[in-house]
Amino acid sequence: MISILNLQLQKISNDQFKATFQYSINRVTTIARVHDKLLKSKNLNKIAVHDYIVNIIDDLKIIYTSLYAIDMQINVDKNICMDMDQTQALGLIINELITNSNKYAFTKEANNIINLTIKNKEDLICFEYSDNGVGFNMDTVNKKDFIGITLIQRLANQLGTQATITSKTGMHISFSFKSKLKV
Ligand SMILES: Nc1ncnc2c1ncn2[C@@H]1O[C@H](COP(=O)(O)OP(=O)(O)O)[C@@H](O)[C@H]1O
Ligand SMILES: [Mg+2]
Repeated sequence: MISILNLQLQKISNDQFKATFQYSINRVTTIARVHDKLLKSKNLNKIAVHDYIVNIIDDLKIIYTSLYAIDMQINVDKNICMDMDQTQALGLIINELITNSNKYAFTKEANNIINLTIKNKEDLICFEYSDNGVGFNMDTVNKKDFIGITLIQRLANQLGTQATITSKTGMHISFSFKSKLKV
C-alpha cells in the first residue's frame, strides 16, 4: 500500500501538492508501523514503544536525509509498553514534530539537534521533544489554526493530557500521561 502511494508520489509534478502528499504518506506509514509491530508481538494489544519509535524515526530519516545533517538524540526507556491506540497517537505526534523540525527549524550551516526523551516517572510516561532551530513566535502560531499543531494537541488529548509547547530558542514540547495498559 505504501509502495503504491510512493509510486504515485513520483508522478506528481506540482511541488506543493507533492509535499502535501508526502506528509500524508508519512502519517499512513506511522500508523502502518503499529500494525507491523502488533503482528510480531505475542500480546495483540501491547507494543514495545522503544522499538516502534526507532522504526518510525528510521522511516523519517530516509525521507529527510537529503535536507540537513541532524544529530538525533533519542532516549526512550526500553520497558515502556502501550496499547495500540496510544502508540499510534504518540507515533503521529513524533511524526508531526520531526516533520516540522525538518521543514522549518534547521539550516545547512547550523549544528542541528533534535532531542526526544520518553521516560517512566512513577506511574506516568513523560514525553519531551526539542529542536535547537530558529524557533517561532507562539502568538502567531496560536492565532492561526495550523493543522500540525492542532493535530498534536488533539493527539495529546487522546492520550489523556495536554501538551505544553514553547519556543524561546528552538522549539520545546512536553507532556505526561498514563499508559492505558493494565500490567
Ligand atoms: N520546529 C519548528 N521550528 C520553527 N518553526 C516551527 C516549528 N514547528 C512549527 N513551526 C512554525 O509553526 C507553524 C505551524 O506548524 P504546523 O501546525 O505543523 O503547520 P504546517 O507545518 O502545516 O505549516 C509552521 O508554519 C511554522 O511556522
Ligand atoms: Mg507541520
